[in-house]
Amino acid sequence: MCAAGLAAGSVGSLAGLAQESGSADGPRYVNATDLVRPDDYRQWTFLSSSLDMTYDAPGARSGPSLFQNVFVNPSSYRAFLENGRWPDETIFVLEIRASSREGAINDAGQFQADLVALEAEVKDDRFADGWAFYDFGAAGSLRETAEPLSGDRVAPCIACHTEHTAVERTFVQFYPTLLEAARRAGTLKPGF
Ligand code: HEC
Repeated sequence: MCAAGLAAGSVGSLAGLAQESGSADGPRYVNATDLVRPDDYRQWTFLSSSLDMTYDAPGARSGPSLFQNVFVNPSSYRAFLENGRWPDETIFVLEIRASSREGAINDAGQFQADLVALEAEVKDDRFADGWAFYDFGAAGSLRETAEPLSGDRVAPCIACHTEHTAVERTFVQFYPTLLEAARRAGTLKPGF
């Protein structure tokens, strides 16, 4: 079976499972922990965009700017607005896009262009640590499913997403509507 068929089949059967556990729009897996790439994340809740907040050391990257767009499944967004915490089975997508100036009406402006890469993160108690990180690869050859990153590949994700995040493993300090909700609920880490 081709990868697309495999993914489509598993989405059907696992959607039922996800519903039973209360989050119909949450993460879907094959082989228990491989994440199926959500193809509808552009219909989820948009948290924010940033420009050039890529993870390289300062000065390491040259070339055109990159945008990063963050999306979360809508039921988890609603839950966070109520109590400032992420429920189990929350999924985030980080979409990296090229920037362009060509055709802009002014000189200084930049707008978002082609997809560059997709990453994801889930909060799910099926993982010993409660969280997992995924890389679906580069545009043009995006994987239908991705294994949870492990070893050296996940270490930087965990380190940065633990030391520098405002709520749990997420950068709520950069998501304006959530920052307010976390402030109201008192769930910000000390220092935020
Ligand atoms: C040096 C710090 C750093 C490292 C390393 C890092 N991230 Fe992030 N990540 C960020 C920042 C900052 C944001 C906030 C959004 C933005 O930059 O646009 C973010 C946001 C995210 C989000 C959106 C949800 C959230 O947590 O706020 C996902 C998904 C994500 N990163 C995945 C990954 C994955 C997968 C890895 C490892 C391959 C990784 N990140 C490594 C800094 C980091």
